[in-house]
Amino acid sequence: MAEKKDLDFTYTTIDKIFRLSMGQTGDYSGAKYDGDFTMSLEEAQKAKHKFIADSLHIKKDSKVLDMACGWAPFTNYIVKDRGATSIGLTLSEGQAEACQKNGYDVRVQDCRTVKPEDYGTFDAIVCIGGLEHFCSVEQWQAGKQEQVYADFFQTLYDLLPVGGRFYMQTMVFSKNMIEFEDMDVNAPKGSAERVMALMVEEFPGSWLPYGPEMVIRNAEPKFKLISQSSGRIDYIETIKQWQKRFKKFSIRKYLLYLSLVPNYLFNKDFRHLLATLNESPNRVCFEKEIMDHYRLVFEKV
Ligand SMILES: C[S@@+](CC[C@H](N)C(=O)[O-])C[C@H]1O[C@@H](n2cnc3c(N)ncnc32)[C@H](O)[C@@H]1O
Repeated sequence: MAEKKDLDFTYTTIDKIFRLSMGQTGDYSGAKYDGDFTMSLEEAQKAKHKFIADSLHIKKDSKVLDMACGWAPFTNYIVKDRGATSIGLTLSEGQAEACQKNGYDVRVQDCRTVKPEDYGTFDAIVCIGGLEHFCSVEQWQAGKQEQVYADFFQTLYDLLPVGGRFYMQTMVFSKNMIEFEDMDVNAPKGSAERVMALMVEEFPGSWLPYGPEMVIRNAEPKFKLISQSSGRIDYIETIKQWQKRFKKFSIRKYLLYLSLVPNYLFNKDFRHLLATLNESPNRVCFEKEIMDHYRLVFEKV
């Protein structure tokens, strides 16, 4: 799995830039346009929140666990719009501090190993864009990927009542995924070989499931699948909107970009992280169908 240092590299590094670009509780996961790109990014993110809250029957006083909560966009929605209570978990120190300053109960804790003894059980659980980080390249190579997901669903099983629902969305590898050995950061810009190499560097300790099937079979028979849909096309639009917002000028933000320059000069991984802001390997992976993106609703049996 991605460890705290990996997630600090990916998320804490960009914490202030992210919040200046996307707002204090911005989403860092695919929005839900349902193909209607006249919607603004904010409207499409809110549509996602509503879809999830409705699917999980979240209402006033529901107790919700927001796993891999990021800057707590979903927590923000269910607390303000539904009157629910939420505990958020992240492994990024920067995100947790920002969420706490914004008044949310967010802690730095590995969500894959939460126990009922920690916070009791929950009415509903979400994990939006977290599963991508649960299995590392090494675990995949050692043949442990299925077990990682099976263990995760056992954690969820212990935290929910029978009939309790869980929502997750995750990137998955798709039909044009390439061989690991072919990934090469020096390959031509925009090639599958380069974009996949950049993805592996941007998200250290992270490897994706092979299709939604891999997740679903590890959820069963403890959980039944209620709904699934692909968010690949919507994710491409989400990333286009993120790129615009990351580039939009503000003096404070550009000073922050400048403060990263010393790292840029001396650290190769850092140069690659910044390259991802320009080249958007995520987007290319979705366009080339190297990756897909799934929204899955489960119910404990
Ligand atoms: C792509 S962001 C998604 C954030 C948020 N859910 C959203 O939709 O904006 C991924 C998040 O997963 C968190 N994460 C990854 N692995 C985790 C783990 N084992 N335990 C807790 N959080 C984790 C990261 O810290 C980060 O907050």
